[in-house]
Amino acid sequence: MTQKKKKTAAKAAHAPAKKAASSEKPVNVSAEAAAPVKAAAPVKEPAPVKEPAPVKTATPVKEPAPVKAAAPVKEPAPVKTAAPVKEPAPVKTAAPVKEPAPVKAAAPVKEPAPVKAAAPMKEPAPVKTAAPVKEPAPVKAAAPMKEPAPVKAAAPVKEPAPAKAAAPAKKSTPAKAAAPVKTPAPAKDDVFERRLARHYDELKWLYCELYHNDMGAFEYFISMLRRCWADRKEGLRAQDALREADPNWYRRRDLLGMMLYVNAFAGTLRGVEEKLPYLSECGVNYLHLMPLLESPKGRSDGGYAVADFRKVQPELGTMDDLEHLADACRAKGMSLCLDFVMNHTSEDHEWARKARAGEPGYRDRYFFYDNWDIPREFEKTVPQVFPTTAPGSFTWLEDAQQVVMTNFYPYQWDLNYANPTVFNDMTENLLYLTNRGIDVIRLDAVPYIWKELGTTCRNLPQVHTLVRMMRMVAEIVCPSVLLLGEVVMEPAKVAPYFGTPEKPECHMLYNVTTMATTWHTLATGNVALLRHQMNSVCALPRDFLFLNYLRCHDDIGWGLDYPWLYGRFGFAEVPHKKYLNDYFTGRFPGSNSRGELYNDDPRLGDARLCGTTASLCGVEAAEFERDSTKLERAVACDLMLHAWMLTQSGIPVLYSGDEVGQLNDYSYHQDGEKWDDSRYLHRGNFQWDLAEMRHDETTRQGKQFQGLRHLEEIRAAEPVFDTRADVWTFDTGNPHVLGIGRWYQGRKLIAFFNFSREFASATSWEKGPYKELVYGGEADALDHVELYPYGFAWYLHLE
Ligand code: GLC
Repeated sequence: MTQKKKKTAAKAAHAPAKKAASSEKPVNVSAEAAAPVKAAAPVKEPAPVKEPAPVKTATPVKEPAPVKAAAPVKEPAPVKTAAPVKEPAPVKTAAPVKEPAPVKAAAPVKEPAPVKAAAPMKEPAPVKTAAPVKEPAPVKAAAPMKEPAPVKAAAPVKEPAPAKAAAPAKKSTPAKAAAPVKTPAPAKDDVFERRLARHYDELKWLYCELYHNDMGAFEYFISMLRRCWADRKEGLRAQDALREADPNWYRRRDLLGMMLYVNAFAGTLRGVEEKLPYLSECGVNYLHLMPLLESPKGRSDGGYAVADFRKVQPELGTMDDLEHLADACRAKGMSLCLDFVMNHTSEDHEWARKARAGEPGYRDRYFFYDNWDIPREFEKTVPQVFPTTAPGSFTWLEDAQQVVMTNFYPYQWDLNYANPTVFNDMTENLLYLTNRGIDVIRLDAVPYIWKELGTTCRNLPQVHTLVRMMRMVAEIVCPSVLLLGEVVMEPAKVAPYFGTPEKPECHMLYNVTTMATTWHTLATGNVALLRHQMNSVCALPRDFLFLNYLRCHDDIGWGLDYPWLYGRFGFAEVPHKKYLNDYFTGRFPGSNSRGELYNDDPRLGDARLCGTTASLCGVEAAEFERDSTKLERAVACDLMLHAWMLTQSGIPVLYSGDEVGQLNDYSYHQDGEKWDDSRYLHRGNFQWDLAEMRHDETTRQGKQFQGLRHLEEIRAAEPVFDTRADVWTFDTGNPHVLGIGRWYQGRKLIAFFNFSREFASATSWEKGPYKELVYGGEADALDHVELYPYGFAWYLHLE
């Protein structure tokens, strides 16, 4: 196997980097000096639009006092981390709890209810979690009825008593559930009946268990499924059949995703259709359109407050346009993904309006209370989602003299899935969308969909029952459709959403911890935690399919394995988050990142972060300073992160604009509807003029676009990137360099990623010879690999 004798030092060239000053210039990059772009942006306007009346729990006042109190504690000052800096005063995650006064101010709650910090970090390793608790074996059809609601917490025993009445679920058999007879009962269809029969027993069991044997509701549910199948058009049925015959169709390594806002990318749905050739040029064959259904202006949470699940936001087009686009995508072999915002509706949704008006049968669809007694109890254990922009989990409705549960913004009312009518009707909404041709349904905020007093109202067992039922629904009515769970939780909570091989739940989940850990690695330059995280991912069954990403439309939440970090480096959670935020907002000396904080919660020291990949990698600062060395390094950093993303098993998903290194957009500061939500920093309009430069490799955009395309093409063509490959990490002998191995059907890849801004050398003891896939060149051995600042290399073993 070795014909070469001389030992070649493997050189992983990337961009034709001049040998830059090998050590960082001690530039004085204070945020102001380095990013006047930002400074220029007139920050915080005088609080425009926030809707007047039902502001969440009284007054979402900017909390006055508590300030950093606990946050303090010295910076860990990692940077190099090579030498695990001993943290002084460990501070432990427990610290935040100490915090005095809660915030909230007016909220009728006594306790601060911080919860937050404690829960997430508890679990260490990601777990296999093959079995997400719940249901006992399905048992025959007959059985369910007899059983008095089996063991498990699944039984919603201590229902939080939504809507004043004690048992909303039962009595709320309004209209629909009460009248299953009405449905036209389409002619029997063998295909449907066969699929239904396969799942019927389990479905009935779970449904009846959750809904207290409400047979009227169940029969309605089944007739609704039959009706939705009858509505499914031929082209979609054909695709169902094809994908049913090839159930691994979505595990192909050439799948490449992109997520985008219709308005920011092309104005309208028709516009997106016209731009499909651009997406194909990007290699994209999985397209995630951000929420586009009707949503009130100024109260939309970026479209995540849906007022009508069957109507497109008029500025973007119509449902026909969406269907047309879906047809066009299908014809091109491009899958189309849409959010299904199922945890809540907009307060403008018909159900919400009727509930507000007190119309019978509608308050039961949400969580309404006459007074603050129960909400106050909830607040003791429910962590806040938007502690700064929308504190609290309930909103007082002055006109209705009621309190309603609103975990997200005050205008997003949580749906009550303990009411079978809600599940029935929302499932029908989901199937309405899949019948328009949507292939991938992103289950938005799915961990939140079941509420139980005395809990965090996250990831409860009933959530898994509901997701399992939705999976069966998809397999019965539209088996070509995939469920993508949005589970932005700590690792131990994520994997259970895959379910078990016998009882699968989601087809795909986001690899959120790897994403956050990747950014941590960039800020510290130390790969230890990322390696630890990857070891956990590699230990999961290979059937678990993750979507890998660097950036998305949301902020980066610092959900890292803090117990591990603390044990290994003495980094405590609060000061470490502060360090990361300082680093990525460019405040930390030497940092060239340009991000902004999101929902800075001084009580917990828990701010999250916004910004585009390129701006976080230093491209914005380098361009502003016209520093070509810095720019070269920033572009290399951006490309290395993408190469790292592409090295992971699963489906890589680009955030629109990242393919050409789009920078932050500060214009939201001046927009009355967006100014207080810094996520708009990275939701700017796609800059077609800059994207035009993608073909010119002398431009920065061209370098980024071509560089990325090259990597994507290699990945699509090379079997070693198959999702079923064995993947492992290895010690490269250099704390800045991550080493990843992949093996599939006799092909082996040894990859290196230098997370430092310095030149680095690294080692693998795997025997050669090797061919470098990106830059070319061969090496007998990898015992001395040289990497440029932020360089990387993909070495393929030649048999
Ligand atoms: C999801 C979305 C986020 C939105 C939230 C509420 O987490 O990604 O953008 O704010 O759901 O629907």
